[in-house]
This record gives sequence, structure tokens and C-alpha cells, in this order.
Amino acid sequence: MRIISGIQPTGELHIGNYLGAVKQWVRLQENNECFFFIADLHALTREYQPRSFQENIFEKAVDLLSLGLDPEKCVIFIQSQIKEHTELAWLLNVITKVAELERMTQYKEKAKKFRQNINAGLLTYPVLQAADILIYQTDAVPVGRDQIQHIELARTIARKFNNIFGQTFKEPKAMMLKEGAKIMSLQDPKKKMSKSDSPQGCIGVFDPPELIKKRVMSAVTDTGKGIKYYPAKKPGISNLVTIFSLFSEKPIKEVERKFKGKGYSDFKKELTDLLVKKLELFRQKKKSLIRREAYVREILEQGRRRAQSIADSTMKEVRANMGLM
Ligand code: TYM
Repeated sequence: MRIISGIQPTGELHIGNYLGAVKQWVRLQENNECFFFIADLHALTREYQPRSFQENIFEKAVDLLSLGLDPEKCVIFIQSQIKEHTELAWLLNVITKVAELERMTQYKEKAKKFRQNINAGLLTYPVLQAADILIYQTDAVPVGRDQIQHIELARTIARKFNNIFGQTFKEPKAMMLKEGAKIMSLQDPKKKMSKSDSPQGCIGVFDPPELIKKRVMSAVTDTGKGIKYYPAKKPGISNLVTIFSLFSEKPIKEVERKFKGKGYSDFKKELTDLLVKKLELFRQKKKSLIRREAYVREILEQGRRRAQSIADSTMKEVRANMGLM
């Protein structure tokens, strides 16, 4: 299968990004043709720092390599280096209904939050995302739950384009994990973990041990006791159990059994130890990679070349089918 997915460069990579998306990518690169990219153009829809933007992009590439993406097994590139993404986004814009874009949950939430700055990019964001996916004739897109609606829209746009202009795009399907697709905030377990919404509710993948400890020990739990997975009634502890299960690679039932009769504090201590141990490997890898700038840049350059050749061939067909050539 050909697989594609992306991540924004701004904001620290947190365990929600890892468990919901990047961990799947690392597994999928073993047996598929995978493309992963840094979605720098999507990041422009929010306030950002132009001066540190290139640094953010480079660091995100280092992060992905540190988490296990292997340049021998997958293609890693930067979205804005393939100009055809934006060309295709414009072409897809003209067949996408505004009403469909206004229905997107992420748009509605952002529009509420940034009432003073609802730029047009926030609305057409999913069209660029559809272009990212369709230009590579993608079979599947591994993402967390918050992106599923955007992938469904990419399918709708592909179908519509094919109906109007003749068969051009594959219809991609979303890939989402049963557990981990939505890791919740440690401070408000009814909301997804998100660095921009609540830094205290996040654990960064490269956070130092003291900070991991602080975040876990101050995580909101629920009234009552017992280490039980019951998201409707005990969202706080259920989220922590999910995190424990995914990092220890043990089923949730087994985690519940392991902590039977124990209290929140014992559980949190063990969760801290587990996270510190697992994340330490990533931290070490990042420490050495961040110094190998030329090596990382060469990986991104190779990725750019490979992505460009596929984008070129799809766009030839798109332009011809739309009467632009
Ligand atoms: P972004 O950068 O917000 O997130 C990257 C990936 O992390 C997942 N994720 C989560 N998973 C579980 N729990 C959470 N709390 C959590 N928070 C984030 C996201 O679902 C995502 O898979 N629009 C995209 C980037 C993008 C893209 C694309 C993705 C641009 N073009 C094409 C796929 C295909 C975004 O902002 O992801």
C-alpha cells in the first residue's frame, strides 16, 4: 500500500501525536511504501514566528527520525518544497463546497477560538490536506481521530473530481488505531491532548524525567478509587490506563489486573517510571541527531526528490483532465 501522513512543525511533539500517529507510521514503514511530511504550510494558518520557523521544521524532522522513522524505509519531506501541493489545492478548491468546509469540526472550533482572525486559510485548510494526500495516489492515511473528518473530505473531493473530470485520483482511506487515536489532556480528560490548548495537560515526547513526573503526578483523576478503564465515568484514569497500556504494549485488561487493589498514587508512580524509561531512548537519539545537520538535510533532500517525481506525474494528468494543457 502507498501511505501518507503529515505533522505540523510548530508545537512540541507530545505523546498524543506519538501514540495516535507516529507510532503507527514506524510500524507501517516496514511493509509499505510510506511518505511522511512536515506540514509547514498548514502551520501558517495560526500565529507563528517566521524567525524560528525554519528551525521548527528542521527540529520536527529530527524528532521524527528520533522516534523511529527510518530514511531507508520511508520518504520524509517538507510540504512547502513540493509546490504542486498548493497548485492542486487551488484546483480542488473550485470543486469543494464552502458549506462542506464550514461543517468541519476543527474549523468550527478554531473559528470560535480565533474569532478575531478567522483567515480564509483556516476554512480551506482541509482542501490543502486533500491535495497533500491525493497528489500521491495514496491508499491509506494513518492519523489520530481528530483528522478523520478531513480524510473523509479528501475521499469526497477525489470522488467528485473523478466524476467530473474522469478517473484521476485514488480514493484514500483513513487508518486509525482502536486505542490511542485520541489521547486526552492530563488536566481536562474530556478534551484531547493538545499543546496549544493546555501545555500542562501534555507530556512532550522529549520532556526530561522531572517534568514527566510532575505532569503525571498532577494529572487529574476521578473521584472514587481503583485503576479501571471506564471512559464514560472515569475519563481521567481511563486515559492514564490507555497510556500505560500503549507504552507497555500490554492489553488494558492486563494493566487493570496488574494494579488491582492499588491506589492512584502507586499507579502514577509506575506510569512515571514507564514513561521515563521509554522516552529516554528517544531523548538520547535526538541528542545525537540534532548535531548531524548535514545528514538530516540530505534525508530531506532525497525525500523532496522522490515526492517531487510522483507529484509531477499526477499533476500532468490533473492539468490535462481539467483542460489546462
Ligand atoms: P497535527 O500536527 O495536529 O497532528 C499530527 C498527528 O497527531 C495526531 N494527534 C493525536 N492523536 C491522538 N491523540 C491526540 N491527542 C492527538 N493530537 C494529535 C493527529 O491526528 C495527526 O495524525 N492537519 C494535520 C497535518 C496534515 C496531514 C495532511 C495529515 C496536513 N496534511 C495529510 C495527514 C494527511 C495536523 O495538523 O496534524
